[in-house]
Amino acid sequence: MAFYICSNCGFGSGSWIGKCPDCGEWNSMKQHADLSEDTSSTKGRSSKKKSVQAATLTPLSQVVQTQKNRLQTRIFEFDRVLGGGFISGEVVLLTGEPGIGKSTLLLQSLKHMRVLYISGEESSEQVADRAKRLQIPLEQILFSQETQAESIIETIKEHKDAVDIVVIDSIQTIYSKDVSGMAGSVSQLKECAIQLVTLAKSIHKPMVLVGHVTKEGDVAGPKTLEHLVDCVLLFEGDRISMHRVLRTSKNRFGSTDEVGIFAMNELGLHEVTNPTAFIEHMESVSGRAIVGVAEGKRPLYFEIQTLTVPTTLPMPRRVVKGVDYNKVQLLLAVMRKHLNLQMDTVDIYVNVVGGIDIKSTAADLGIVAALISSIKNIALPEKSVFLGEVGLLGEVRAVLFQDKIIEEAKRLSFTRVVSPKNIRHVRDLMTQLTK
Ligand code: TYD
Ligand code: MG
Repeated sequence: MAFYICSNCGFGSGSWIGKCPDCGEWNSMKQHADLSEDTSSTKGRSSKKKSVQAATLTPLSQVVQTQKNRLQTRIFEFDRVLGGGFISGEVVLLTGEPGIGKSTLLLQSLKHMRVLYISGEESSEQVADRAKRLQIPLEQILFSQETQAESIIETIKEHKDAVDIVVIDSIQTIYSKDVSGMAGSVSQLKECAIQLVTLAKSIHKPMVLVGHVTKEGDVAGPKTLEHLVDCVLLFEGDRISMHRVLRTSKNRFGSTDEVGIFAMNELGLHEVTNPTAFIEHMESVSGRAIVGVAEGKRPLYFEIQTLTVPTTLPMPRRVVKGVDYNKVQLLLAVMRKHLNLQMDTVDIYVNVVGGIDIKSTAADLGIVAALISSIKNIALPEKSVFLGEVGLLGEVRAVLFQDKIIEEAKRLSFTRVVSPKNIRHVRDLMTQLTK
């Protein structure tokens, strides 16, 4: 029986269909080898006998540790996220929104290495111009604008001894001649990534694949590659603001707890080590709270701004940026139940200054404090910082690395730290703030 697979999304069907029911692409169903062939050929097994060899076994005690041969970028924030640097044969998928600074980060971090830079995104002039502006030695970058996977592979094989690392910017611009579908389609992405990953492992060179994703969650492309690669890095931030965060969602050679923080200016990306870099001003006004959270393992302090205004709409507006929308809805429900605040007739806006997304639950208490402050129109005490998770019952819970955040806050001369150590319930918080 014939079998058809959509070359765009990989949907399978027993009969040919003009339009793929899964992705909606026209004329994308391609016939594949008869799946029943294997079973029917069992009769003639002896005549078609293939020689199968047993796999080689290696005692783990004899394996040479690769950890020691890390290729360091010498950018502390980047090396830390990688787990100490690149490992030979490692494939790293660097994802982020277009324009967030992925190419810039790579150019800067590979400054001390001999790089084979394959870019279907930009011309050699553009890359050279940028490298010059970033004061990166041009002689150690070999550039190609090739986009055909097979040709790229031949090129890499030919020049493998002259380079330390290979960059493909981006995987969405590469296509394989053996697969139908446009460059960037799921089937193309998978095929090209498989070929490149196999190559990286065989030549023992690290490889970085750049993949674009959009904030709206259009991750169908690079997301499908996550299981193929060794490390997935996410470069996040708001294009308008200068701060960028490098996170890792998978790392076969390191921890996924680490984050790297950068700031972008006209001279490229710079490491940010100051934990209060995201706080723009310190004076106390209503609707504003400083929260202490642990991003990765390090304490960081962010400014939460909230605005509550009488609504003119039948359904009051809730606009949230920088924290999870559903989390804010949950905190509002807890506040409605336990604090007896009038919130049904106000529009509520919540924002994290600096364009960073806070993933940690440690910001809960600070968000509640900022909302109380805005609704009651009272400024929170100067130099105070909030941390703690808020549960459905209104209880304030301890958070990961709590002591570290508190200790660092004291060092940074915050005079009042409001945490699960001194606040047990959101009601106590309300009493303290309004007395
Ligand atoms: P880029 O690295 O091209 O992003 P990506 O590869 O993720 O698409 O960087 C894009 C933006 O960064 C661009 O809009 C300009 C800005 N930028 C700076 O602000 N300063 C700089 O030194 C560089 C190189 C770029
Ligand atoms: Mg780019």
